[in-house]
Amino acid sequence: MLSAEDNELLCRVGAGTPMGEFLRRFWIPALKSSDLPAPDGDPVELRLLGEDLVAFRDTTGQVGVLQARCPHRQAPLFYGRNEACGLRCIYHGWKFDVAGTCVDMPSEPPESNFKDKVPPIGYPVQETSDIVWVYLGPRDKQPALPELEWARVPSEHRYLVKYNQACNYVQAIEGDLDSSHIGFLHMDFEALRHPKTPEARWRAQDLAPRWIVEPTDYGLMLAAQRNAEPDTFYWRINHYYFPWYTTIAGPLDQSRGHGHIWIPVDDIHTEVWCVTWAPNEPLTEEEKFNILSGPNPHIASLDPATGKLRAKKENHFLQDREAQRTTSFTGIRGVREQDTAVVEGMGAIVDRTKEHLGTSDLAIIGMRRQLLNGANALLQGVEPAAATRGELYHPRAWSAVLPRDRAERFLFLEDPEVQKLMATLV
Ligand code: FES
Ligand SMILES: [Fe+2]
Repeated sequence: MLSAEDNELLCRVGAGTPMGEFLRRFWIPALKSSDLPAPDGDPVELRLLGEDLVAFRDTTGQVGVLQARCPHRQAPLFYGRNEACGLRCIYHGWKFDVAGTCVDMPSEPPESNFKDKVPPIGYPVQETSDIVWVYLGPRDKQPALPELEWARVPSEHRYLVKYNQACNYVQAIEGDLDSSHIGFLHMDFEALRHPKTPEARWRAQDLAPRWIVEPTDYGLMLAAQRNAEPDTFYWRINHYYFPWYTTIAGPLDQSRGHGHIWIPVDDIHTEVWCVTWAPNEPLTEEEKFNILSGPNPHIASLDPATGKLRAKKENHFLQDREAQRTTSFTGIRGVREQDTAVVEGMGAIVDRTKEHLGTSDLAIIGMRRQLLNGANALLQGVEPAAATRGELYHPRAWSAVLPRDRAERFLFLEDPEVQKLMATLV
């Protein structure tokens, strides 16, 4: 449970709000590079932290992210002409380069220097890891990029897919930290009857894992301990990283990673990025295909035209009641569809004064506390350390089977094998 005041503080992301200012201290994954495929191609409208923006790739391939409206008379620049190293407003022809500087003002006399008096309307941009990153915070506080493992592997090792979810970003993140829902919400009866791996069996058999939740410099480490064989435990270690990243434990050989980015579009919409990567080899075409189109897809109903799921509240997420009796716990197809059904269904901003949190919710409590502490510290003038120290993001999610006698809290964390696993693989 959270007070109404803390819930507001946690969830409001607009400019000038305490959390909005905290979030603006970090680079924001804004677009996939492939959303702006070609120089002088079509501009793209976007909205981040409640701010309307327009992005374009200029003649040289550089990306600009500008305020959405022209500073002359506020016409939308999205309709503009992307030509000769700039975006030209269709209303009176003012033209802006990727930095947002007005470089041409044909509606004024040639001798006028009025264009030099118009403040730039662009934001700092970096393009790396197949992502266009933008920074909306104070210019003198420009941070470092987070050195997450998936951001440092070659393109062929990484697969990015994103969609828009109609709810606040915090409850979207909470869905990833709430590891105990896996055995319910994502339960597939066939997998339960015939588990393909021992891990699947352990996950299905131990529905109430024990938790270690450790606040860290980068956010939170979440260790879930499940019973494996009589003398072993199955450990899954996930991470939350400031302010909107998560990574989730993958297979025991650590050959694949999976994580999410939860970007607040505004107070009641979230751009959900699903990141799949392989530290040591390219992903195969088949596994990329399976993410959207396999028999058990991660996302089953993505509509590329809208960037939204076809399964939605209005059609009850295409829930099949017969399938719910015979095939899966939910009768909803797609892992993200299952998550989205419950997370959106809580309301655009969940009323946390009404909840009753148990021991399985420790990770959620820890994440909220970290975000609230960060925003409150910034109000006191303390800048977030993680924003400027990209190397803090090196720890990766992992899973392991370890003898039960190493399970004591601190012995577990000091175990050399655990230390090795905690370190990033690339
Ligand atoms: S409104 Fe854009 S040039 Fe006039
Ligand atoms: Fe989930």
